[in-house]
Amino acid sequence: MKAAGDQSWYDARVTLPPLRTSIGEIPLHEYRLTLGDRTWSFLHTGAVVTLEDEQRFLERERDRLPYGVMLWPASIALAHDVLTRAGELRGKRVLELGAGTGVPGIVAASLGARVLQTDRNDVALHVCGMNAERNRVSGIEVRSADWETFTSDEPFDVILGSDVLYATTMHDRLRAICEAHLAPGGVVLFSDPFRAQSLPVLEAMDAEGWRAGLAKWSIAVESGTRTIAVYELSRR
Ligand SMILES: C[S@@+](CC[C@H](N)C(=O)[O-])C[C@H]1O[C@@H](n2cnc3c(N)ncnc32)[C@H](O)[C@@H]1O
Repeated sequence: MKAAGDQSWYDARVTLPPLRTSIGEIPLHEYRLTLGDRTWSFLHTGAVVTLEDEQRFLERERDRLPYGVMLWPASIALAHDVLTRAGELRGKRVLELGAGTGVPGIVAASLGARVLQTDRNDVALHVCGMNAERNRVSGIEVRSADWETFTSDEPFDVILGSDVLYATTMHDRLRAICEAHLAPGGVVLFSDPFRAQSLPVLEAMDAEGWRAGLAKWSIAVESGTRTIAVYELSRR
């Protein structure tokens, strides 16, 4: 298992001026991810790292805050995984599905990829765009897109999705996007905290023309640690 987050910095007490949105003021915090000699800064509305954080969020905050603008550990693990592929990403076309705060896509763009970050939630897209700007990365397009209707004229070498497999009702759509939009030789990277709901689609893809691999990451931030799976899918 690979350890991550130990060199990163997160302090829930650091609050920035709130974001004014159509759904009211939203508190913003900063998460700094340091890897090697580079540090990225990401705005988010609160970390949902441990299982307890997740239960608390679902009970108290879900109706108030869009979940895409929270800091989810799957995005941190996927960013680490993306960084291990630094040499392969320059000039590659990357699609991020359900980008939320946009952590892995922004790291991919920092490595020279051309990245399309998509989400259906406007507040998440706004924060995602702020994060791209904050990290002074170029080569990113942020676009409103729903998995139900997503389409693109260009294929992608890499498709990223952190914590997007939680609703089984969306599995067929997400799989169809991968089938239709992954370039030959491309790779799909999904990450999540080993959610049981994710397994049916991963197993089905593995049985039907895809090769599935797994990397485990241990993510530590102030509120605790979580083990995250990064699933790598490529066509056989
Ligand atoms: C659990 S959040 C994860 C956000 C981000 N990837 C991360 O890991 O921090 C799931 C994200 O998927 C987005 N989403 C959910 N259903 C969607 C759909 N049908 N089309 C596009 N985005 C969707 C949500 O708006 C949200 O940003």
